[in-house]
Amino acid sequence: MSNAWMGKVAVLMGGPSAEREISLMSGNAVLGALRERGVDAHPFDPVERDLWEMRRDGYARAFIALHGRYGEDGTVQGALETLGIPYTGSGVLASALAMDKWRTKLVWIAAGIPTPRFRVVDEAADPVRLVADLGLPLIVKPAREGSTIGITKVSSVDRDEVGDAIAEAAKHDRLVLAEEFVEGRELTASIVGERALPLIRIEAPKGNYDYEHKYFSDETKYHCPAGLPDAVEHAIREQSLAAFRILAASGWGRLDLILRSDGSWSFLELNTSPGMTGHSLVPMAARAAGIAFPDLCVEILRGAHVG
Ligand SMILES: Nc1ncnc2c1ncn2[C@@H]1O[C@H](COP(=O)(O)OP(=O)(O)O)[C@@H](O)[C@H]1O
Ligand SMILES: [Mg+2]
Repeated sequence: MSNAWMGKVAVLMGGPSAEREISLMSGNAVLGALRERGVDAHPFDPVERDLWEMRRDGYARAFIALHGRYGEDGTVQGALETLGIPYTGSGVLASALAMDKWRTKLVWIAAGIPTPRFRVVDEAADPVRLVADLGLPLIVKPAREGSTIGITKVSSVDRDEVGDAIAEAAKHDRLVLAEEFVEGRELTASIVGERALPLIRIEAPKGNYDYEHKYFSDETKYHCPAGLPDAVEHAIREQSLAAFRILAASGWGRLDLILRSDGSWSFLELNTSPGMTGHSLVPMAARAAGIAFPDLCVEILRGAHVG
């Protein structure tokens, strides 16, 4: 099947964010896959070239494989809107909203979507009150970062662990959240188009939340299917779609959540431009649903839109 009708496609990759390296991996994987399916796709790194050149160069649509600030936060989406170039994934509103974990939680709470209890904190926060509110352990994280950057699990407050954790998170963002620690099975729900794909269970090596581990460790195990009872799998997928839609998200994305042993679960965040390397999670879920990586890329690209 020819996909030449899609015209000249820019795969936006790289960019200036902290997640540049991962974005280049995603972008190159997408580029290869689209070409394999007959799409006239070209790499486009907004660090090297001005986005405004896209129209001059005759691009008909854009596949956004940028992660983190700038590419995932609504700014690139806004630029593409202005240029009138259809792009993949969420629009300006959902991209900006999902980048902000605090405001994401406010919307979810208003809509009855479960998310961990939290407080917005700063360096003057009283650790005793915080622990009285949220218990121990607790998680401290910057509201607007990704890839577990700046996240600390605080297990005691003997020395000023809370203060240290807040200072660490504050290096990345003025807005810092403390959350109750949710003990349970880590899951991720992939959304493509109008459907939720099979859940993936992530089994990280004990107690590790850092960047290197999550992305490059061989010790992290991924289970898809996740091994949950059908009813639970179904209920979580359904609510993932609701959590996605209430944020005005569209096209595709991935939600992180934790399932407690009592059967309840809490959504942590929505990623509107998740990883797209051959080893990434959305491609893994697609594979479990019988969708090969190149077809997944084409399906996401078909959903490209403006407005
Ligand atoms: N409230 C929480 N309870 C337990 N673990 C958490 C909590 N918040 C974050 N984590 C852990 O940290 C990881 C990253 O957190 P997340 O909120 O998804 O931010 P990001 O992926 O954008 O860095 C999660 O996948 C999970 O392992
Ligand atoms: Mg996450």
